[in-house]
Amino acid sequence: MTEFFIFCNLKVFWYPDLPNGRIKLLNFYPISSRNPDALIFLLLNMPVQIIVGAQWGDEGKGKIVDLLSAKADIVARYQGGANAGHTVVIGGEKFVLHLIPSGILQPNTMCVIGNGVVIDPAALLHEIEMLKKQGIQVEGRLLLSQRAHLVMPYHQLLDQSKEADEMQKKIGTTGRGIGPAYVDKAHRLGIRLIDLLDAETLREKIGLNLQEKNAILSAVYGKTPLEAEAILQDYRQFAAQIKPYVADTSHYLHQAMAENKTIICEGAQGSLLDVDFGTYPYVTSSTPTSGGACTGLGIGPKKIDTVMGVIKAYTTRVGMGPFPTEIHDELGEQLRALGYEYGATTGRPRRCGWFDAVVANYAAQINGIDSWALTKLDVLDTFAEIKLCVAYRYRGKELKSFPAEIHVLENCEPVYETFSGWQQSTANVRTFEELPAAAQKYLNAVQQITRVPIQIVSVGSDREQTILR
Ligand code: IMP
Repeated sequence: MTEFFIFCNLKVFWYPDLPNGRIKLLNFYPISSRNPDALIFLLLNMPVQIIVGAQWGDEGKGKIVDLLSAKADIVARYQGGANAGHTVVIGGEKFVLHLIPSGILQPNTMCVIGNGVVIDPAALLHEIEMLKKQGIQVEGRLLLSQRAHLVMPYHQLLDQSKEADEMQKKIGTTGRGIGPAYVDKAHRLGIRLIDLLDAETLREKIGLNLQEKNAILSAVYGKTPLEAEAILQDYRQFAAQIKPYVADTSHYLHQAMAENKTIICEGAQGSLLDVDFGTYPYVTSSTPTSGGACTGLGIGPKKIDTVMGVIKAYTTRVGMGPFPTEIHDELGEQLRALGYEYGATTGRPRRCGWFDAVVANYAAQINGIDSWALTKLDVLDTFAEIKLCVAYRYRGKELKSFPAEIHVLENCEPVYETFSGWQQSTANVRTFEELPAAAQKYLNAVQQITRVPIQIVSVGSDREQTILR
């Protein structure tokens, strides 16, 4: 190992005998806001990197993870469940993933589903089948945490019944049973993958759960009680198919880190859907922010080298809840049509709006974001004017931080800076310098306001349609 200094205040350790000549550095953060180019060079050599969505999900994380995982040994998903939907296009072929990290599309990358994820075995097996049909090797390349909790049929029924109930607050969930599965985890009633593999424990836990769930389903929602035996039979079949993938994934990741392997920790959904920091109660029930990578994979915070935030060039949201920069007229519909903004999981039309730098700044703060990957710049290609929200005003005063009160957020007024559109295609541009001047100006404004450098710009859904700075 050699130790030396480059870029003024940066201390770098070089391990020439490791694959890819990996480097490890100290004093990383101070340089990040001053010298983006140095940062980019270094980011591609970071052993443990977290990728988070910095808006309300659907930022295009799947494409970014797919791209970066070409250089990664492992991609590890840390939270959420089959509520997520990643669409990745490779050479015109479309892959839709819900649970399995998009790293599976790179032939030499291992994929991990961590303990923080809730797994619907039927959805997982369906996804494995789809991938196999599309010629992707899954066996031997996917590991599932034995501590991950299962999504059960009663979770889905409870989720859907609650959403359909006029008396309850509608969140606009995906109906995949995610909230109730995390409720059971916290309530210590959950069934983990390790329990699935033990027939007697599985029987006992399903019985215990059904006593409670059937009472709620019939008394509160007027549903027919579920049969324990039918669920047991289905889940025993799932167990047999899933068993080869189950492992102690925290241990596996620790071994990989000891060997200095490159790991991408992939978050699902987005920071504003985080159960603690999102627009509560209009959130998902897990921790998409970067802290979730530690608890959801079983790795310590000191092992994380860098955090990349994924932002879309504009903003979208699915489901209910405040959205200050939402566009309610035909411009919003134009964005939806051009960006094909429909949920990959539910097909629901996404609400569309302008880029919100208040949200991006907040996401940078709660995640510790070092760099951005900005996606779907090409969707703005035809607009004559583009707006960027730089602040919120509430009752005549500018807010200093992102409000926790939902009624404040619902009633705050976005303060916009307006940029000229570039009105030419960026789909075939491959360097930042070749981008139209107006597009460069817009991206520079995003960097300046958020004080985070943009490392990747995506100008189309294909892997090739990417600008690496
Ligand atoms: P749940 O995660 O299904 O409980 O839904 C809670 C909220 O999160 C709803 O507003 C959903 O629309 C939203 N949500 C969940 N998963 C995603 C996603 O992958 N992209 C965008 N929104 C999501």
